[in-house]
Amino acid sequence: MTKRFYVTTAIDYVNGEPHLGHAYEKVITDVIARAHQSLGEEVFYLTGLDEHGQKVQQAAEAAGLDPQAYCDQLATTWQTFVDRLGLSNNDFVRTSGARHRESITAILNHLNEEGHFYKDSYQGYYSTQQETFLTDKDRGPDGQFDPIYGEVTELVEENYYFKLGWHQQWLIDYIEANPSFVYPSCRRNEVLGFLKNNTLEDLCITRPKSRLEWGIPLPFDPEFVTYVWFDALANYASIPAALGDPILNKLRAPNLVVDSSLSLWPADVHVIGKDILKFHAVYWPIMLRAMDIPLPHQICVHGWWQKDGEKMSKSTGNVVNPLEVIDEWGLDAFRYYLVRELDIGPDGNWTDQGFQARYAAELANGLGNLVNRSLSMLNRYRASLVPKPSEELATAVSQAVSEVKKELQQHHLQAALQTIWTLITKTNQYIDQTAPFKLAKQPDQKERLDEILYNMVETVRVLAILIWPTLPTTAERIFAQLKMDGSPNRLADAVWGQITEGHEVGKPEPLFPRKDLAK
Ligand code: ME8
Ligand code: MG
Repeated sequence: MTKRFYVTTAIDYVNGEPHLGHAYEKVITDVIARAHQSLGEEVFYLTGLDEHGQKVQQAAEAAGLDPQAYCDQLATTWQTFVDRLGLSNNDFVRTSGARHRESITAILNHLNEEGHFYKDSYQGYYSTQQETFLTDKDRGPDGQFDPIYGEVTELVEENYYFKLGWHQQWLIDYIEANPSFVYPSCRRNEVLGFLKNNTLEDLCITRPKSRLEWGIPLPFDPEFVTYVWFDALANYASIPAALGDPILNKLRAPNLVVDSSLSLWPADVHVIGKDILKFHAVYWPIMLRAMDIPLPHQICVHGWWQKDGEKMSKSTGNVVNPLEVIDEWGLDAFRYYLVRELDIGPDGNWTDQGFQARYAAELANGLGNLVNRSLSMLNRYRASLVPKPSEELATAVSQAVSEVKKELQQHHLQAALQTIWTLITKTNQYIDQTAPFKLAKQPDQKERLDEILYNMVETVRVLAILIWPTLPTTAERIFAQLKMDGSPNRLADAVWGQITEGHEVGKPEPLFPRKDLAK
């Protein structure tokens, strides 16, 4: 039983519309998943929906639906979104589903039996919008709570608390001893700074049913439901537990079967946005520690997208609609821009101009043109038949391949595309300089032309493999045009010389049609 490379996204609030930020997170996670698949690993990619809590309950009420019916309705929109992004996800978690609920119930029972919870009464401020308690410390310099909290009400109520505070020093030591646990390092410093300068307060893990019904009932006290973040974080383990991963026996409902051939946990990478760092790098590790379950290997934190230098907002119309971009420009162009424009870490800025410039220069004139000229010259000058092997570009190509491998392993996805596009540019220059279109008119240059044509077509074959994690559809199309068997999904095949003499290639078809930008 080999452990699979297990990668996750945050689970999105079901009551919002899928937007560019969600698309980005899912696409970079998909590139990581496909990269590991291409590196020969078995991969499990989980994404899905966060469906409980007050906001959903209120939205359902407003829509005149019961919360489950409301979530079921919205879930189809999100599933469609996942399909349209071409994700290779293996499962889709919905926290209102039975698989998840049963695992959460088992977790709650387990932690309760081991003495990690206590009941206490709380008096203070509460933000419905953020589903969080606030203290006077959360007030701004003007004495007001930030508008992101919406209406803040005062309340007194009993709840259950999870003893987070117990584990503060352990977590500091853990993060210091494991430098790659939080990536990139600026986010690691942020967590360490927070942990060293604050006393961790225990986490309130329930809401009284009188105030909120739409949640997972607390198994040992029917007056309460589980706090949505406690429930949501555990999705990363609840699904592998439900699927039978033996390492998660403690999290499994008694009725579920162990699958001794399944090994997913610990997660290799949780991909999340910067706003939910504390939940993932503080609460979640402590929950796992309390259950005596190994920690995920990495919390990988990406930045936020803006449009034209401003926060995206539907009310001002300043948004990018991922599905509209995909309809107009194609899925791979959309995926390419996201990964090429923004490295995992900093914030990004979408501009339509920037998108169109990359489309024209890098996709249409760069990759598209290279594939097109390679195939059409082979068609025209050699009746579509690959000439005998030549190694002129072999070194440059294999250097690029090993760099890309390293970059993908380190999740330097942007750098990997830069390396690939440097090779594309060089190959286009090689064609300009060696000028096969001129040699074709000189019968005494037949051998030289053979060499160049071989280098062109073999480089194109390797490029298809290199781009597959980011541009899977384009990679498959190139393979189809080359009439290669199989899929370009194995980096092990990115070895020079695999296209054989006499192989017959197909006709070129435009990969990135040029657009009339005047409209
Ligand atoms: O936070 N740019 O859900 P969510 C980039 N349900 N990423 C963005 C973004 C932007 N403009 N806006 C949002 C939640 N995101 C919880 C997560 S996980 C156990 C529970 C990212 O729908 C955001 O950072 O508000 C988060 O990682 C993801 O989208 C889902 O956000
Ligand atoms: Mg959010």
